[in-house]
Amino acid sequence: MTTYFNNGVYADKETIKVSIDDRGYYFGDGVYEVIKVYDGKLYTDQEHFTRFLQSAKKIRMDLPYTIDEFTGIAKKLAADNGIVEGHVYIQATRGAAPRMHNFPGEEVEPMITAYAIHNPRPLSKIKEGVAVKTTDDIRWLRCDIKSLNLLGNVLAKQEAYDAGCAEAVFVRDGIVTEGSSSNMFGVKDGILYTHPATNLILNGITRRVILQLCAKHSIGVMEEPFTLEQFKEMDELFLTSTTSEITPIVSIDGKIVGDGAPGRVTERLQQVFEETIHELKMEIN
Ligand SMILES: Cc1ncc(COP(=O)(O)O)c(C=O)c1O
Repeated sequence: MTTYFNNGVYADKETIKVSIDDRGYYFGDGVYEVIKVYDGKLYTDQEHFTRFLQSAKKIRMDLPYTIDEFTGIAKKLAADNGIVEGHVYIQATRGAAPRMHNFPGEEVEPMITAYAIHNPRPLSKIKEGVAVKTTDDIRWLRCDIKSLNLLGNVLAKQEAYDAGCAEAVFVRDGIVTEGSSSNMFGVKDGILYTHPATNLILNGITRRVILQLCAKHSIGVMEEPFTLEQFKEMDELFLTSTTSEITPIVSIDGKIVGDGAPGRVTERLQQVFEETIHELKMEIN
């Protein structure tokens, strides 16, 4: 039996009813977050729920909970479902109303749904790396919003899977933006490169952790746009996300990256990232 959260109620998944008029269903009109759980504890939950509220604000949606209240919901879901290693998924749609593009009246409440699920760390991919495939970034120009409207991302991920790759790398006007569900990083001559946090990418929480770790450990960073040609010539490549953590990229469009094994800077960052997880585990709640 899995306990879900639905607008203030904790209930079995089977008993939760969502309206067919929900705007998430019609338009993808909503926002979401994924928060990692290590050892039963939430990782960077403040950052995730801050972004959740910011995403909602950017689509002109008011959410009825504070960051602390959302954290409380996520903690309860992880605890009640006995999640030791996994993640919490939470989404908010603009609610249910007869289908019209314009917003419904203020009496329509957002529909907030959340659950916690077991999801082990992808340790073999983290250790050995993955292959990726490039694709045109056909998405809209507000990729900074963690919107439920993910069709461009879904199509890109499937294209990558069809080609036997783990992730799609979006390229817009010759510039590498991000992955279909991750941020992209390259290392050249010891310097880390990643696309700046503009409207063209989601400013990943893992991306932010990486940049903080680079500052702390004196690894040089260039947050500047770079071309696909430059990306393919980097010494090391990796991707980051809440569930993928730091996953090395060992081939891109069939071309081997570096010597085909995870690079030195990538492994160093993995090591210091691991320390942040260890610190979380050591925290007393
Ligand atoms: C498009 C996109 N970019 C980047 C990320 C990485 O973000 P985070 O590190 O917050 O998981 C995600 C995560 O799902 C994503 O969907």
